[in-house]
Amino acid sequence: MSPRTVSIVNMKGGVGKSTTVASLAEALSLEGLRVLVVDLDPQSNVSMMLAGQDRWIDLRKNGQTIDEYFNQFVYGGEPRFFHEFIAHGVSDLSGDPQLDLLISTPEFRYIERHALEKWVSQGFDIRQLNARFSRLTNSAIESVSDNYDLVLFDCPPGISMFAEAAIELSEFIVIPTIADYVSRLGIFAFRKRALRSMEQRRFTDERIWTVITKFEQHNTLHLSEADMLKTQFNVFDTRIPQAEQIARAAEWSDQKRTFEQKYGAAAQVIRQFAAEFRERAGLI
Ligand SMILES: Nc1ncnc2c1ncn2[C@@H]1O[C@H](COP(=O)(O)OP(=O)(O)OP(=O)(O)O)[C@@H](O)[C@H]1O
Ligand SMILES: [Mg+2]
Repeated sequence: MSPRTVSIVNMKGGVGKSTTVASLAEALSLEGLRVLVVDLDPQSNVSMMLAGQDRWIDLRKNGQTIDEYFNQFVYGGEPRFFHEFIAHGVSDLSGDPQLDLLISTPEFRYIERHALEKWVSQGFDIRQLNARFSRLTNSAIESVSDNYDLVLFDCPPGISMFAEAAIELSEFIVIPTIADYVSRLGIFAFRKRALRSMEQRRFTDERIWTVITKFEQHNTLHLSEADMLKTQFNVFDTRIPQAEQIARAAEWSDQKRTFEQKYGAAAQVIRQFAAEFRERAGLI
């Protein structure tokens, strides 16, 4: 069976995309799903969260990065398989989560630019470029599809060719959002883009879901905006609260810790979100 491919994406920055990827990946891998996280963001946030800085530095030295993987298609060189770039058994959780990771580095931002410069100079137009990024990403994921039940893409804010490619190949899309007016405006345009991609594959909007993050239950704006969102989009029933422990969980711990130790009072709601995600995405 090929893995479920899921993009966690929002054009808007700082809405909790990387935090959602890390916590969802940890919760589901502890439940026994074999999960691969692919970091498509040069900020490398989810890479740091899941591998910690020391391992990230080692992986980078070793060339096990997403930029090195795509480098070979831009600059040529000895071809290497996608699976060679993946870090196995990441996360600081005890309980042996089945969690693998392809890290990104700040250099990842240049790959896209160099690829575009090169392929534009070879006469490719924008549609062909899109198709090329999609093909590269697709065949990479397909090459490891037997190894995973779920592949999660952490997308950067804004627009990137790789994020576009991830959206194109994803069977399910999660849009984390804050329940406020500006954030709601932001997802209108983006949802249209995601829907176009789904419809090309004869999927429906049942595969595009919004999750409310950083939710403050006593904030009346958050409450009214959350209700409003529900009338316009598919919204997860579970809302991720604004919680210090969730922000703290991003920092690597050299001591292994349980899910409850890591996420504290928020552990329960993250498990609940993971369960709802499995149900909505058909990962039962
Ligand atoms: N539920 C939460 N409660 C408290 N803090 C949170 C929560 N979710 C995320 N944060 C914090 O908010 C900040 C932004 O989160 P995160 O990096 O996950 O967002 P992002 O959408 O991935 O950002 P970017 O667009 O830059 O990639 C981080 O400092 C993170 O620790
Ligand atoms: Mg992020």
